[in-house]
Amino acid sequence: MRVGMLTGGGDCPGLNAVIRAVVRKGAQSFGDEFVGFRDGWRGPLEDDTMTLDVDAVRGILPRGGTILGSSRTNPFAVDGGVERIKDSLASHGCDALIAIGGEDTLGVAARLADLGVAVVGVPKTIDNDLSGTDFTFGFDTAVNIATEAIDRLHTTAESHHRVLVVEVMGRHAGWIALHAGLAGGANIILIPERPFDIEKVCAQVESRFATRFSPIVVVSEGAVPAEGGSMTLVSGSKDAFGHVRLGGIGDRLASEIEHRTGKEARAVVLGHVQRGGSPTAFDRWLATRFGLHAIQAVHDGDLGIMTALRGTDIVRVPLSEGTKELKVVRPELYEEAEVLFG
Ligand code: F6P
Repeated sequence: MRVGMLTGGGDCPGLNAVIRAVVRKGAQSFGDEFVGFRDGWRGPLEDDTMTLDVDAVRGILPRGGTILGSSRTNPFAVDGGVERIKDSLASHGCDALIAIGGEDTLGVAARLADLGVAVVGVPKTIDNDLSGTDFTFGFDTAVNIATEAIDRLHTTAESHHRVLVVEVMGRHAGWIALHAGLAGGANIILIPERPFDIEKVCAQVESRFATRFSPIVVVSEGAVPAEGGSMTLVSGSKDAFGHVRLGGIGDRLASEIEHRTGKEARAVVLGHVQRGGSPTAFDRWLATRFGLHAIQAVHDGDLGIMTALRGTDIVRVPLSEGTKELKVVRPELYEEAEVLFG
């Protein structure tokens, strides 16, 4: 068989591990050949390809990023986009396409599957917000990076008796903030699912100072103040999928805390550091298994599905189901953590 492959959306540690597993198993077990499409859906849209064989994937297992490149191209926002993708796949003799991505890339894959494109999806995102799978690879690496940062910030915050606000990624879901905040012993965790009350945050800051320790506030980039409260935000520009480009809540929160409590407060934005570098062992394990199962699904003729983790098993779920809704932090998980705030 000839199989196309692409990686779309925000990059994340483990993408190369998927690519390697697909190519190694495909070539070894089935004698497959591969076509690498560059930069997500831009590759088949503009017919931009690269060689993808066993030699090309040697040594990439521990490497962050993606050898295929990525973009946030939305073919449904381009005139004739679907036809161009179909033509490109046909001209390279592709029997199937493996699309590795998050809600947007796999959302496109689901719509293309409905339009007759032979596609298998592999879920990725550091945000861990895809409903079809227990975990996405990249998340564990991001949580470890954020936890290490919080550990380091505790000691410097205490030396200077100041508040440190750590802004982590998480547009609609607070998984990174919640997991890294718990693991790093943060004193306040603010997530998009739970609009915060700035006055309560300031009270928790004061109560932490009363213990002679300094507060660490972990905030998701998508966290927002409660409506009708005394703190407001302005929104930014949008990407090709209509998502607002976030960032800035950490700084806003730090200046608000400083102004209201009189304590010095600084913000640290972890940003793309959370997405860069080598994947953790867990993410390499998960990404490799997703890759092995994705190419197997192609050969089983099980198309229009994505691989997913359920417990420790890899299962297949319809793309339409796996991308149907975002997996957000349930109220009881947040409430469980709240007892440690302040
Ligand atoms: O989709 C993953 C993610 O890292 C989000 O957490 C974040 O909001 C977004 O990507 C950032 O996008 P960009 O890389 O385009 O700045």
